Amino acid sequence: MNSSLKNDNSRVFLVTGATGAIGKAIARQLAELEDSEVVLVCRDKKKAENTVKEIVDITGNPKVRFELADLSRYKDIRNLAERWKGSLQVLINNAACTPRNRQETPEGIELQFATNVLCYYWLIDEFTELLKASAPACVVNVASYWAGGLDLTDMEFRRRAYNNDQAYRQSKQANRMLSAAFAEKLKPFRITVNACHPGDVNSALSNNLGFGGHETPDQGAETPVWLATHYIGLETTGRYFEHLNEKSCPFARNQQAVNALFEHCANYIKNHS
Ligand SMILES: NC(=O)c1ccc[n+]([C@@H]2O[C@H](COP(=O)([O-])OP(=O)(O)OC[C@H]3O[C@@H](n4cnc5c(N)ncnc54)[C@H](OP(=O)(O)O)[C@@H]3O)[C@@H](O)[C@H]2O)c1
Repeated sequence: MNSSLKNDNSRVFLVTGATGAIGKAIARQLAELEDSEVVLVCRDKKKAENTVKEIVDITGNPKVRFELADLSRYKDIRNLAERWKGSLQVLINNAACTPRNRQETPEGIELQFATNVLCYYWLIDEFTELLKASAPACVVNVASYWAGGLDLTDMEFRRRAYNNDQAYRQSKQANRMLSAAFAEKLKPFRITVNACHPGDVNSALSNNLGFGGHETPDQGAETPVWLATHYIGLETTGRYFEHLNEKSCPFARNQQAVNALFEHCANYIKNHS
């Protein structure tokens, strides 16, 4: 039996970072599926228009559109959720950045922590009610094998000297830990949450970290799309995958640290709304 969701009824996918290397390939692969509706959440209107046009031209799927939001800002994410119309079955958190120098959002939050970590948390949190109403639903958090060094006492590099690689590895560890935390909380509502490494792809993000990548964007999109469309991603939750294979994740197993990070992120909503 073909267990992909290709022939299921219409499903709505939200993809962040879809103007980037891997995100655009994810959005295009999803748009190629029968009955899919794909919403690209982007911050740059011109890039968003061009990307939507490119995907519609290639796939012939007219149900591809964009919404604008600066994903480093809680208010933009809350507004996006408030103005959303219709259902949402799949949320793909993929947007991320790796600025070489320490930068802050207008709210004064270090940019990688805001974009790569809090954004993932905020989007899941703000869309939870809609995902529940649209269930069975799933969240795919694009993380990385390149992860570690998380310091809960200094998530924003206020005490430590900022280093974009260190901040990035911390953020990708956090993605994997938050996936485990949300998976437990959302399990009763038939919403799965999994994390994955997409692959090493040449992109603005990887170039900032000093590497080019040896995989194509389509190869990078393969695991996130698989988790978003295959029965594995709907039946499995709280797991971490690389190249279509589940991998043991030491970060997600430390329940105390997972809970502490979740609480830490939850407090940012209260403090910055
Ligand atoms: N490339 C790799 O080798 C690699 C390896 C492991 C994991 N990953 C993960 O894969 C994901 C995609 O990475 P990529 O390599 O495809 O990066 P990329 O090409 O640099 O794309 C990043 C995307 O995020 C968007 N973005 C950044 N900040 C944003 C903000 N504040 N608001 C809205 N959108 C924002 C960018 O928008 P703009 O176009 O407007 O800049 C772009 O669409 C990331 O989560 C990354 O950690 C990548």
